Parts: sequence; structure tokens; C-alpha cells
Amino acid sequence: MSLAEAAQAVVAQFEYTDDDVNRGVKEFLRQMDEGLSKDGTSLSQIPTYVTAVPNGTEKGLYMAVDLGGTNFRVCSVKLNGDSTFNITSAKVPVPKELMIAETAEELFAFLALQIKAFLEKHHGDHFEQHIRRRMTMSAPNGFRDENVFRMGFTFSFPVQQMGINKGTLIRWTKGFDIPDAIGKDVCALLQTEIDKLHLPVRVAALVNDTVGTLMAHSYGAPESSGASLGAIFGTGTNGAYLEKLSNIKKTLVGEYDTSTGDMVVNTEWGSFDNQLNVLPVTPWDVALDQQSVNPGLQMYEKRVSGMFLGEILRLAVIDLMKNPDISFFRDDNSGTNDLRSTTDIAETSPIYKAWAVDSTILSIAAGDHTPGLVLLRKGLDDSLQIHAAAYEDARAFQAIAGAIGQRAARLAAVAIAAVVIQTGKLANPDEMIDVGVDGSLVEHYPYFRTMIQEALSKVEGIGSEGAKRIRIGLAEDGSGVGAALIALVAAGMEKHAKNAAAKAAAAVAAASEVSEKVTPAE
Ligand code: BGC
Repeated sequence: MSLAEAAQAVVAQFEYTDDDVNRGVKEFLRQMDEGLSKDGTSLSQIPTYVTAVPNGTEKGLYMAVDLGGTNFRVCSVKLNGDSTFNITSAKVPVPKELMIAETAEELFAFLALQIKAFLEKHHGDHFEQHIRRRMTMSAPNGFRDENVFRMGFTFSFPVQQMGINKGTLIRWTKGFDIPDAIGKDVCALLQTEIDKLHLPVRVAALVNDTVGTLMAHSYGAPESSGASLGAIFGTGTNGAYLEKLSNIKKTLVGEYDTSTGDMVVNTEWGSFDNQLNVLPVTPWDVALDQQSVNPGLQMYEKRVSGMFLGEILRLAVIDLMKNPDISFFRDDNSGTNDLRSTTDIAETSPIYKAWAVDSTILSIAAGDHTPGLVLLRKGLDDSLQIHAAAYEDARAFQAIAGAIGQRAARLAAVAIAAVVIQTGKLANPDEMIDVGVDGSLVEHYPYFRTMIQEALSKVEGIGSEGAKRIRIGLAEDGSGVGAALIALVAAGMEKHAKNAAAKAAAAVAAASEVSEKVTPAE
């Protein structure tokens, strides 16, 4: 068997046909429905207590922080009310030891310190003024309520939400593992650390990055009736959409506004089909899952998102390298290598180390159309320390990487198709269906969106006409602007609750006045 044939046999295992896509969509719709009716299902379908998407006229200055993967980001966002915004932000990497810390406090204390540093640097006046005022004010925490920044907290892990700013962590994903935090309210954890530093900040809203993406895309596209879906295809993957309240059959414990008849639902689709009813399974998917920190969970995410594609590729490539019948990244003399030297793989190459292959090499492979695959061979050299790879080897590598990327894009189409069908918007032939997407994979993997569109056109109930109406656009800054927008919604809810409480207190006072007046007459 030639190398090309052996590589083709690997490629074939990643094939995900139109029939597979359609089976996937049907099962996705079934699991969505199941998730709306009870807790503890594979697709969590978490109600977010956000009951409307913005229309671009929202205004104000809000803070937003974002913890979702490798970095922590702090920003302040000025919403201008005309679909535009100004954002100031700072980003720091989350130290590895805090991702797997003993206690949640260690991580959250670090986050609060970053918020303090940001306020000092970018809102120094406001900060100083309020620290001074704090000494003289009698308000709780020493701040006048109107001077406290409302902050949206983008926390991109599965959380059971109990209200717009309250939610307990269900499980960690994407390599985080702090068991102490499971079951705790993550807003309270952050607020406690913020209060220890006496910062004028209130965690007003808890936001999944997909919900932020949905909100930001709606704010920025006022000509449409709002985005139908916000989705992330980055380190992890997930989606959020607007669902009819009447379809949410499970109990909603928190308070929310019923007037729109809708609520944003965070699907947590990374865990779609953990039971593997329809997801494709290759030997490399099995091996990856077994060596992961959460075997049996996030099974869809493990086939689709950036954190995993590099590792699937690594496992498949290593297997092929071990095949004694073929020569892959091995040549005995420079005559077999068009670079006139023999291939050499450094002992320290990421190809020999679990989780060490970054998925950017898949993007490089997919984007290389040069005749000699010079870009990919340079990429193999630079990032995998595979020096002087032969053209045939690079070609085989490209074919396998391409198959993994294409399967991921077609699986991504399964989730998008199911959500679009669920929203019912396909029924109106004149309506465009906006999908806001964000994440390194969808931004940088060449033709990822094109491959999704192609697969969408093959879905029964969508077809090529329907697919043309599904407009997949990059969402601008979901975790910043989206979180700010939800903080704004939350501030509105606070005001509403305060007015209602004031009205209730006035009614009680009036009633007691009446009874006082009545009593003497009796
Ligand atoms: C998390 C989601 C998140 C997604 C994208 C997943 O691992 O479970 O909550 O939205 O990653 O960041």
C-alpha cells in the first residue's frame, strides 16, 4: 500500500456524509426537545433569564469581564445607542496553576485583582473619587448605588442559571479542573473577591459567551429582527438561541419578564449526544476521549472545537507513522526527498506529546495551495519540529488534517441547522436568518463557513434555498459588548424590581394608614 492510499484510508474514516448530517440534525432536534423538558439531559438547554435581544438603541457605560479559556479579559463598554460602541479592554493569560487550583478562591481572587488594575488604569478618576467617597457614604459597601459599575460576567462553562446574575457551576470544560467550585454560585464567588478589594463594581449579569455573541450580533445588525443564534467555534463550542417560553417545559426558578414570550436558551451543545447515538466514532476519537480529563462528556465538542482537533490529528498521524508497511515522515536518503535532505523529527516534537499539537496547523494545511506545499512544510518545521518533510508526506498530512477539519465543519452545520429549524424562521421565505459566530476556528480555519453552508444546503427542510437565507456572520466582540448589553438588561430589571418594591411598600404604608384611620372609628 502506498502512503497516499494509506492516508486515504484514514481520510475515509472521517467522512461525514449528507445522510449522516441529516441523521445528526434529527437527533439534535430530539435532544433539544428533551433538554427543554427536564434537567440532567445530554444537551442541557439552560434557560438564561434573558428574555429579549437588543435592537441597537441601547446606551450607557458598563463593565464586562470574560473567563472562557486561556485568557481573562476585562473591559468597559460604552454603548452609543446607534448600533456602535467604544470598548477599552485588557487581557491577561490565566496562570495554568489557577486552572487546576485547589480552591475556587485562588482563581476568583486573581480575577478581582485584574479588575482592580483595570479600573485604576482606565477609570482612575472614577475609581479614586469613589474610594474617597466610600469613606463618607453610608450606602452598603460604602458606595452610592448610582456610582457602582454594573458588570456583565461572561463565564463560558456550563452553569445552572437561577436568575440573570446567579448560577451554579455544573462542570468545568476546556482543561479547567477546580472541583471545589462545582455547585457554587460563580457570581457570588467573584463578588466576594471584588468586595474584599472594596471595588465599586456589582456583578449584575452572568453571561455565557454564546449568549453574549447572540446579543452583540443583534445590537450590531439592527436592520434584521435580531440574530437567531449565537455560536462559538473556538477552543470550545456552544450555541444560544431565542426559544419560546411555552416550549420551555422544565421549571424556571428565577424571576424574569414574561412580556416578550421568549427566553434565550444556552444549549451547551458541546455535550450533544454524549451517548453516541449518532456522532461519528473513529479509533482516534476513542483514544482522545479516554485520555481527556472528562471522558464521556463534551463528546460533540471533542469532534468539533479547536482544543481537540490538533490532538485527533496527532493521534491519527502517529498511527500512520507506526505503520511498518509505509514510509511516512521517514526517508532513507535525500534522493527520496525533494528538499535534498532527509526528514528529521526532533525528539521534543509536539507530535510525540499528548495535547501538544495546536490546531492552527490544520488551518495552515487547509490554506496551503502552493504547488510544493511550501507553507505547510514550513509550518511542520516551525511548529511541529518535523524538519525537511517530503512533499508526499506533507500531502498525506494535509489530506488527513483536511478530513478532520471538514468533519468538524459538517458537524457544526448539524447544530446550526437544528437550531434554525427549531426557531421556525424558515417558514417565512422573505426573512433572512442571522447567525452570529465567534471563535478562532470559524475565524481562522479557511473555508469553515463555506463548508458549513454547503452542508446546510443538504439538510432536509432547509435545502439550497433555505441555506441561502442563513447568513453566518462574525459577531463583533460578543464577550465584551454582549455582556455589557446583558448588564444593561439586568440594571433595568433591578430598577423595575426597586420600583415594584417601592410601590409595594407605599401600598403597605397606605394600607396601614387606612387601618390606623379606621381603627379609632371602630
Ligand atoms: C462550554 C460552553 C462555552 C463553549 C465555548 C464549552 O466548553 O461548556 O459554556 O460556551 O465552550 O466557549
